[in-house]
Amino acid sequence: MKYLFCNWKMYLGLKESEALAKELAGASYDSEKLSVAVFPSYPSIPAVVKACEGGRVEVGAQDCYWVPSGAYTGAVSAQMLATLGCRYVMVGHSERRHIFGESDTDARKKIDAALDAGLAAVVCVGETKEELADGKREYRLKKQLMKAFSELPMNGKGIFVAYEPVWAIGTGEPCDPAEVERIHAFIRAELTAYGIGHIPLLYGGSVSPDNVKAYIFADGVDGVLAGGASAKSGSLMPLISSVL
Ligand code: PGA
Repeated sequence: MKYLFCNWKMYLGLKESEALAKELAGASYDSEKLSVAVFPSYPSIPAVVKACEGGRVEVGAQDCYWVPSGAYTGAVSAQMLATLGCRYVMVGHSERRHIFGESDTDARKKIDAALDAGLAAVVCVGETKEELADGKREYRLKKQLMKAFSELPMNGKGIFVAYEPVWAIGTGEPCDPAEVERIHAFIRAELTAYGIGHIPLLYGGSVSPDNVKAYIFADGVDGVLAGGASAKSGSLMPLISSVL
């Protein structure tokens, strides 16, 4: 099975999300081979869940808070998302880490909360441009993975990892597919050390209809997490058709 996960970030309002979800729900693709999920912003989730109801497209959220309910103004819990019909939740996306100051510890709490709520966690990891230049790419990934997965009492059930180099996100400069293969092998070895079985590994960062094939069929890559290109019909539909 290959995965196409669509991170709509804060690009689309309610009506736009609903319209794109409806279009996607009507798209023809072999769901035995490709699993598609969309991650709209919070206010659009109920409408997108409805638009995808009974179909093959799954819905996820872009973030969650780890406490189930309480006095946490502005927060949305993993349990609330599960109740809305989400199947997935993204954790530790680079924009959460770098714009909103989320730590590795926060990400781990969110993973635990997601799994407790019955959601699959899509855990995003990746190094910055500076870390890459300083030869600290593996060090950064090791740290992020250690906090996320050491002594995780689930054996990797309900976990996806997305390797998203920060410098490749939204820049039009994706990571070279051969490098992605090498880093995915590194991530896989780290996960094995934590007793995490064969979970899907995704690549994200400037994925487009022109390059998606090179990633989705690369060695050790189970799918892609696409941002900008997934939030427009004109590139979302070609993303799907180019992997079939
Ligand atoms: P991008 O974003 O495809 O626009 O680079 C990917 C992501 O942030 O998940």
